[in-house]
Amino acid sequence: MLEPQEKTIISEANWDNYEAIINVLRAVDAEFVPRLTEGENLRVKVTRILNDQRRDWIKAVVDNRIVGVVAVIYNYRRPRLGLIETLAVLPQYRRLGIGRQLVQYAMAKLFNCDMDAVLITTWETNGTAIRMYEELGFKKIMRKKVEGSYFKLFFLFNFDTSERSPTGFSRLWSYLR
Ligand SMILES: CC(C)(COP(=O)(O)OP(=O)(O)OC[C@H]1O[C@@H](n2cnc3c(N)ncnc32)[C@H](O)[C@@H]1OP(=O)(O)O)[C@@H](O)C(=O)NCCC(=O)NCCS
Repeated sequence: MLEPQEKTIISEANWDNYEAIINVLRAVDAEFVPRLTEGENLRVKVTRILNDQRRDWIKAVVDNRIVGVVAVIYNYRRPRLGLIETLAVLPQYRRLGIGRQLVQYAMAKLFNCDMDAVLITTWETNGTAIRMYEELGFKKIMRKKVEGSYFKLFFLFNFDTSERSPTGFSRLWSYLR
């Protein structure tokens, strides 16, 4: 029986992880609304984020296999606003806390990089993600119809920036865990 709490390692991804990130995204593509591949080829998407200094991929590794990913964007649309996007965990590794750990790591990373708030969005029928974001303390701030077809929900988490210090990352990380 897998015990991911002990075995899951969350860290930043890099070019060595290029194919593995694509494999995770390919496995979950059809679950996204709209599909990830509707807007962009997966290789283009992964390359674009790896090449962008304002973005990072974060990976979850279990037994040397990348089983989940998420992307972060710094200074998204305005200074100090972070965005978390493209959260995905392989179906056979779900309900084990890996998605939550990826989002928590992403939040800690954004906090450590001087962001004062984090935005995350999902489609309105994604009850799993909505519940997770609300449990993590995100507040729903907007509901918007996209391209006339589905509703997108926007969630925001404001950091307590008075907590920021050289040890802020580890403090926030331990608080979130
Ligand atoms: C959303 C997703 C990343 C969650 O990953 P995960 O590793 O299964 O999530 P976790 O195990 O960390 O679960 C965290 C919380 O999410 C909620 N959750 C997860 N799966 C759920 C389910 N099937 N039903 C209801 N709530 C669920 C719960 O609140 C859960 O906490 P709990 O297990 O303590 O009850 C995963 O389901 C996924 O990749 N889905 C397809 C892509 C997607 O929807 N991405 C998000 C786009 S914004």
